[in-house]
Amino acid sequence: MIPAVQGKRGLLALAAAAAAAGGRRRIARCAVASTPAARGYRATAAQQASASTSANGPAEPAAAAASCVMDTYVRPPIVLSHGKGSYVYDTAGNKYLDFTAGIAVTALGHSHPDIAAAVADQATKLVHCSNLFHNEWAPRLARRIVEVTAAAYPQGTRGIYARPADGASPARVFFANSGTEANEGALKFARKHGKHVAAAGVLGKGTSEALRVDPNLKHGIVSFTGGFHGRTMGALSVTATPKYQTPFTPLIPGVQTAKFNQTEEIGAFVDERTCAVIVEPIQGEGGIHVARPEFLRALRHRCDQVGALLIYDEIQCGLGRSGSLWAHQQYPEDCSPDIVTMAKPLANGIPIGAILVSDRVAGIIKPGEHGTTCGGNPLACRAGCTVLDHITRPEFLEHVRAAGHVLERELARALAPFMGKDVVGLRGTGLLRGIQFSSDPAKVVELARERGLLLVGAGGNVVRLVPPLNTSVADIERGAAIIADCVKHLAA
Ligand SMILES: Cc1ncc(COP(=O)(O)O)c(C=O)c1O
Repeated sequence: MIPAVQGKRGLLALAAAAAAAGGRRRIARCAVASTPAARGYRATAAQQASASTSANGPAEPAAAAASCVMDTYVRPPIVLSHGKGSYVYDTAGNKYLDFTAGIAVTALGHSHPDIAAAVADQATKLVHCSNLFHNEWAPRLARRIVEVTAAAYPQGTRGIYARPADGASPARVFFANSGTEANEGALKFARKHGKHVAAAGVLGKGTSEALRVDPNLKHGIVSFTGGFHGRTMGALSVTATPKYQTPFTPLIPGVQTAKFNQTEEIGAFVDERTCAVIVEPIQGEGGIHVARPEFLRALRHRCDQVGALLIYDEIQCGLGRSGSLWAHQQYPEDCSPDIVTMAKPLANGIPIGAILVSDRVAGIIKPGEHGTTCGGNPLACRAGCTVLDHITRPEFLEHVRAAGHVLERELARALAPFMGKDVVGLRGTGLLRGIQFSSDPAKVVELARERGLLLVGAGGNVVRLVPPLNTSVADIERGAAIIADCVKHLAA
C-alpha cells in the first residue's frame, strides 16, 4: 500500500526517508515495493531505469517540493514523470489510467504525436514574439475558433452567432494564458460594454436616468452558486465559494450570486445596473451540474432586456468534452452567449486561454485597453490548431458521446447496489461525469489510485470523471470497473 501520508507531509516524509537512506534509489525502491505496481500497471524496465537513474530522479522533486514549493495543494506522494495516451507513469514505475486528464486539459491524451511534432517544430522556429507583432499561428487559431463555432448556427441572430450585415466575422478572439485570465478579460469587456450602452442610452424604455448620468453605475455582475471561474481577483469574485473567497476579501464590488438553475430568481438579480452574467453551462468544479435549457434561455432573454452581456465559461465543459464542440451548442440558438471563455484543453496542456467575443462587443474595445505579454504566442496557438484539427472531426465527437454513454452505463450498472446509500447519483454528459457520494469521497480517490486509476474530486462529495476525450471504450470500461471495485471495498 502507498504510505498513508498526504501532501506536503507526505513529501516531507519521502524526502526524509531519502536522506536517511542515502538518496533517491531507496525512495524508488520503497515506492515500487509499496505501491500496487504488480497489479498489471508496471512500467517497462527501461522506463523504470530511466526514472531511477535520471539526474532529477524521484527524491529530488519530493525534497524540493517539501522545502521550496508553496503549500497550496494537497498532493498524493507520487511524482509523475511521463504519459502516453490515457496513461501516466510515476517515477517509481507505476502506471495509472488517467481519468483526470490534468483536470480536463489533455483532451488528446498525453504525448500525442501530432501535438509533440507541432510543438517540437515550432520550438525551433518561434516560441514568442509578444503582441507587438503578428505571428503566423494566433490569427489562424482565431479564425478556426470563429469558423467552427459559427458553423453550428449558420442562421444565428444572437451574440457570437449574429452575422454583421457587411459579411464580417460574427465574433473575434482575444488570447490569454489561462482560464482565469480569460475570465478576467471577459469581465473587463463587459464592464466597458456596460458603460458604453448606459452612456449611449440604448437600453430602451425604462432605463433609469441615473444610468445615463453616471454610466459607471452599470457595472453589476451576476454569477451563480456552485460556479467556478478562477483564482484571480475578478474571477474569484464571481466564484461564490467561501473557502476560495474568504481569505482574500475584499473582492471586486458589484457582484451578486444567484441560485444556479433557478429561473424565477433571474429577474430580481439581473437588472439595468447589470453589465454581465457569467455562468458555466455545465458546472465542473461545483460538482457536474448541467444547466436547464429554460434557465439559459431566461438568462439570454433577461440580458437582452437590460443590456447585459451573457458570458459562458466553457473552460471545463467546452471544446468537445460534452460531446459537442461547445456545451452550449446542445441548447437551442436562443440560449446563445455574447462571450465564451475557453482554456484548459485548447492546446492540450500548453498554457493558453481565449475569449470569443461577439463582433458587436469586440468593436467597442480599443487598442491598449486590454493586453497580455505571452497570450497568443505561436507555440501555444500552433498546438491549439492541432487540437482543433482533432476535436472538430465528427468521428472524434461521436467517440466522446459513445464513450460517455458507455461510462454512464457501466457506472449505473456497477454502482446500482450502492445507489441511495453510499452513492447519491450520477450526473453529466459526454466525458464530463460526476458520481455524487453520500460523504467525502477522498477515500475512493485514494483507493482508485492504489488500483492504478487517477481521479479528481469536485464540490458536494462528487468524484469527477474527465478522461482524455480519445480514451478507448475498453479503458473507459476498465476505469468504471476500478471505481466500482473501490466503492464495493469501502462499502464492505
Ligand atoms: C469553469 C472553469 N473556469 C475557470 C477555471 C480557471 O482556469 P485556470 O485554472 O486555467 O485559471 C477553471 C479551472 O478549473 C474552470 O473549471
